[in-house]
Amino acid sequence: MWLINSSIGRKVVMSVTGIALVLFLTFHASMNVVALISAQGYNMICEFLGANWYAVVATLGLAALVALHFVYAFWLTLQNRKARGNNRYAVTDKPEAVEWASQNMLVLGIIVILGMGLHLYNFWYNMMYAELVGVHGPIAPTDGTAFIAQTFACPVYTVIYLVWLAALWLHLNHGFWSAMQTLGWSGHIWLCRWRMIGTVYTTVVILMFAAVAVAFACGYAPADMQPVAGGCCGLGC
Ligand code: HEM
Repeated sequence: MWLINSSIGRKVVMSVTGIALVLFLTFHASMNVVALISAQGYNMICEFLGANWYAVVATLGLAALVALHFVYAFWLTLQNRKARGNNRYAVTDKPEAVEWASQNMLVLGIIVILGMGLHLYNFWYNMMYAELVGVHGPIAPTDGTAFIAQTFACPVYTVIYLVWLAALWLHLNHGFWSAMQTLGWSGHIWLCRWRMIGTVYTTVVILMFAAVAVAFACGYAPADMQPVAGGCCGLGC
């Protein structure tokens, strides 16, 4: 099948899965902003996305997308290096026009995946997984606002999340227009437009995530928030 056997087919898989992941991030960032307005509103969304069958199916779909994107990224990188042979470092000598992020997409992607591992432990494990197995700590698995407050009360987590978000911004900023180019919008004018649209779009999404992290790190709490049970995140901050 051309999606597996041809180089362009593999790039199409990277682009389509990448765009689907950007759509997930757009939803996730918009949902998180609710935590700045209403704790109860945010917790209602978390309850809706909890251990219900449709949410579990969506999570599995999301995991499949991430796995495909990741496996194809390694595959394409290996294929490119093989094609270039001993000359593989020539790419880093490319002129200024080739931006830093485009040369480091795999490294940035690995940082994003590592950050995601920590993030899933902080949230998914304590929320959806805890609800599925029926065992949880002092915070109820549907109390997403409390988990956000607990996580960002710890400055170490806040810094790690902000570094993670910066890596994600660089990764998305390049990935966005690169995906559009692969899918056919490759004329000079459209490439310039996609670069601009991609930068504005990804900056807004990342700023929404960062606003939540920074606000809670600074001690902000929505008016209807209950006191957080269980105290610190465990890092001793
Ligand atoms: C300040 C930043 C963020 C906060 C406060 C946050 C918060 C949360 C919360 C509360 C959940 C659990 C939702 C639920 O199960 O009901 C969650 C799940 C998740 N988050 Fe985040 N998130 C942030 C950033 C990100 C970023 C940048 C990514 C991706 C790069 C991401 C990927 C995920 C994934 C994959 C899940 C699991 C979704 C599922 O179970 O289907 N999050 N996050």
